[in-house]
Amino acid sequence: MDQAKTLRKWAEGSSGAPRQPRVIAVTSGKGGVGKTNVVANLAVAFSQLGQRVLILDADLALGNVDVLFGIVPPYTLEHVLLGEKSISEIMVQGPAGIRILPTSSGTGRKCRS
Ligand SMILES: Nc1ncnc2c1ncn2[C@@H]1O[C@H](COP(=O)(O)OP(=O)(O)OP(=O)(O)O)[C@@H](O)[C@H]1O
Ligand SMILES: [Mg+2]
Repeated sequence: MDQAKTLRKWAEGSSGAPRQPRVIAVTSGKGGVGKTNVVANLAVAFSQLGQRVLILDADLALGNVDVLFGIVPPYTLEHVLLGEKSISEIMVQGPAGIRILPTSSGTGRKCRS
């Protein structure tokens, strides 16, 4: 039995099921190996191919994908976790139509329990 048949059909878009966003996680066992640069370049490439791209820098303490794009976001995921902003309110526009969910880079604030 081919258990992945339905998943493959969905991915091909031939089953009539709504298309799901594709999530690509870029990770490493070691810091500073080039993840952020790979993500930035992949994002631009996918966007130029007509894909809608959203980047989440999941480094919640030292996210820097916004720095790489030269963006200074007014709000970050920290504000969402603190209940001050919604996800859509913190989203910023990057180059080539990319959207970015910025994360904080060094904070002393604690989230509400
Ligand atoms: N292909 C490459 N060739 C040379 N230098 C690179 C390359 N990719 C990244 N670098 C450099 O390596 C350093 C780390 O890159 P980057 O920030 O993308 O890594 P990272 O894995 O996201 O780091 P972190 O774990 O701190 O998030 C930067 O100074 C960057 O300019
Ligand atoms: Mg990084």
